[in-house]
Amino acid sequence: MRPYRCFASCLPGLEEMLRGELAALGIPKPEVSKGGVRFFGHRRSVFRVNLCSGLATHVLLRFPKFEAKTFFDLEKGFRRLDLEPLLKEGEPISLRVQAKKSKLIHSGAIEDRFRSFLGKRLPGVRFLEQEPKDPLDPEGLFQAVQIRVFFDRVQISVDSTGIPLHRRGWKQAVGKAPLREDLAHALILASGWDRETPLLDPFAGSGTIPIEAAGLARRLAPGRLRRFSFERGAIFDEEDYQLEKMRAEKQSLPGLGFKLFASDRDESVLTLLEANAERAGVAEELDLRVGTFDQAAFLSGEPKSEQGAMVSNPPFGRRVQETTGLEQLYQALGRKLRLLPPSFHIALLSSDRRLTQRVGIDLKSAFLVPFGGLRVRALVR
Ligand SMILES: C[S@@+](CC[C@H](N)C(=O)[O-])C[C@H]1O[C@@H](n2cnc3c(N)ncnc32)[C@H](O)[C@@H]1O
Repeated sequence: MRPYRCFASCLPGLEEMLRGELAALGIPKPEVSKGGVRFFGHRRSVFRVNLCSGLATHVLLRFPKFEAKTFFDLEKGFRRLDLEPLLKEGEPISLRVQAKKSKLIHSGAIEDRFRSFLGKRLPGVRFLEQEPKDPLDPEGLFQAVQIRVFFDRVQISVDSTGIPLHRRGWKQAVGKAPLREDLAHALILASGWDRETPLLDPFAGSGTIPIEAAGLARRLAPGRLRRFSFERGAIFDEEDYQLEKMRAEKQSLPGLGFKLFASDRDESVLTLLEANAERAGVAEELDLRVGTFDQAAFLSGEPKSEQGAMVSNPPFGRRVQETTGLEQLYQALGRKLRLLPPSFHIALLSSDRRLTQRVGIDLKSAFLVPFGGLRVRALVR
């Protein structure tokens, strides 16, 4: 059987990191492309990337592109698709259509054409009007078809993922400005942390960074709790999926010989954090404290460690509070961070260069990504 033409999408700015992650997962020749990474893979590779990637958002199975300047071209292109290996009759299908810079620009009309084409090709087809939101719900699985028309070229893909991969399933309770799990994952990787020494997040909120870090240290598959569209799709094979799950489980560690420290001045968010950590199965790995950042582990002088990492997403204005007062906060944080041993890794996520300059430590930019209507930068030492 020929391999699938796959595209693992990610937040723009994380492509190169995702390429490295897929290579480490044993995916042959992953190639960076805008907004993701292309690769050719068999069924098990598709299952593996969905289950084990911490950076990808979707794994798309792509059909060859075709040109369409008219609806006649479009329908001709549809008829040539070899759909049956990728789409299963009878399982609900969600359509996502996007058209830009093309003669065919009306996404609603494109969707109508595809619906009526599929209705004839797969007579038992059922369409979903709204995609489910709970990545843990086995009843909420669906097949998703994505149609993108860009410069008159039509790219049709079947999404093997469904609900985006950053929705791991353990974060049901969130604070004011929660981070996306894939972004936290990228920040931790960029920090250079060795996963064998303590890690601290003194602005932990609902805990995305420490929970994701505990998963990385225990080598847990990021998708271990959730369900994926492919489970209801034509490519599914129970035996191959169980083999991939077993492969992932074999690599995981039952516990850690060190702690990950998470604190926040807001006691109520720490309660959410605790519940999220329980769901993620990493509560044992965390040491939770209520307090301002200067009372946090390492920054208060206790405990002492020559090795470790401070990885955090301090408030950066607009999303939590306005920047007033934040300059002093970053300055005071800098004073504490300068007391850490020089071997300590530091990684901060912020949208405001002026604020991070206040830290007064030479930090270099690791990546820049769009997030919540802002462009946020990872700064590391
Ligand atoms: C941007 S949010 C962090 C979000 C977190 N990464 C998450 O995924 O939920 C910033 C957090 O810093 C906390 N915070 C603000 N000022 C603080 C201070 N002086 N000391 C400790 N925590 C503080 C807020 O309560 C908030 O939870």
